[in-house]
Amino acid sequence: MLRRLVYVSTAALSLDQPDIDAILAQARRFNAANAVTGLLLYNGRNFIQALEGAPETVATLYARICADARHSGVVTVRDEPIADRDFPDWAMAYAAARPGAGDLSSLLPASLPHELKKMFGALNAA
Ligand SMILES: Cc1cc2nc3c(=O)[nH]c(=O)nc-3n(C[C@H](O)[C@H](O)[C@H](O)COP(=O)(O)O)c2cc1C
Repeated sequence: MLRRLVYVSTAALSLDQPDIDAILAQARRFNAANAVTGLLLYNGRNFIQALEGAPETVATLYARICADARHSGVVTVRDEPIADRDFPDWAMAYAAARPGAGDLSSLLPASLPHELKKMFGALNAA
């Protein structure tokens, strides 16, 4: 059984590139050891992250992520059982949105629900 959870949040104002690097390093270490995969997108203000894994693993990780002071206003946008992973090769793929860098298509698999593609696209463009 697999679960995919997607949330959006607002980054702490003080966040800089070394902070992002630290989040990613921490995430990839834990996720690789615990069969969690997904995608994190940061547009300079907001995060959107997809987490895929065993339901209990995703639940405990998400509780820690929600309590993390490096962001706030965490809102779950989608949470459901899935048959297959959309990001099987990524302990945590990462995309930093920049103005004009609108094309996420290489990171977003065809299998991802249209609604989620739109959400990632909207944050990427924001
Ligand atoms: C935007 C964001 C995304 C994160 N993604 C993950 C993740 O995918 N995996 C992970 O283990 N930690 C992730 N973290 C870090 C966790 O919030 C937390 O710091 C980490 O699980 C260690 O928790 P602890 O300090 O309570 O031990 C993320 C943090 C932020 C701010």
